[in-house]
Amino acid sequence: METWDAIRSRRNVRSYAQEAIAPEDLDQILEAGRRTPSAGNQQAWDFVVCTDPDQLTQLARVWRSGGHVAGSAATIALIAPNPDDARSRDLIQYDLGQATMSMLLAAADLGIGSAHSAVSDQALARRLLGFPEDRFCAWLICLGVPADRPLAPIRRPNRRPFEDVVHRGHW
Ligand SMILES: Cc1cc2nc3c(=O)[nH]c(=O)nc-3n(C[C@H](O)[C@H](O)[C@H](O)COP(=O)(O)O)c2cc1C
Repeated sequence: METWDAIRSRRNVRSYAQEAIAPEDLDQILEAGRRTPSAGNQQAWDFVVCTDPDQLTQLARVWRSGGHVAGSAATIALIAPNPDDARSRDLIQYDLGQATMSMLLAAADLGIGSAHSAVSDQALARRLLGFPEDRFCAWLICLGVPADRPLAPIRRPNRRPFEDVVHRGHW
């Protein structure tokens, strides 16, 4: 897929076909995350990729609306440190957002659907994923071939109008 098509085709896909993601495709998505820019090039992220259906079923319980985790072909957990100062926490969340978008677009490029999931039960996430005490699980990225329809450029996305969002030279 062309980049512009991938940008326009990505959408929140919460139900997935019962189809595995090829290991090389999954690695390409993870590599997109690894290549993401970060503040000071700190790369303060680790990615735990899960494909085992039993583990995914358990992982779905870390967030009350995480049902799509259970049905995903793979879910990538974004693990990060939790520094005391607000500035560092902001930067890490910005970096994680960029890594997320890189992976969502890499997935879309391969025709693979994606969806975020929040994480609230950190103790359960830690037990299932085994990350160290000084880290937390920030977000989950669920992946899978869309169950409903293939990804294709969305003509009229559910977004604020262009002229409302874009300010030229001045607000
Ligand atoms: C930080 C963040 C957290 C999100 N958390 C969830 C979530 O827990 N569950 C979910 O179904 N979607 C979640 N989403 C997906 C958004 O609801 C979705 O991207 C938005 O409604 C726009 O729809 P689209 O992705 O189809 O364009 C999250 C998105 C972001 C950016």
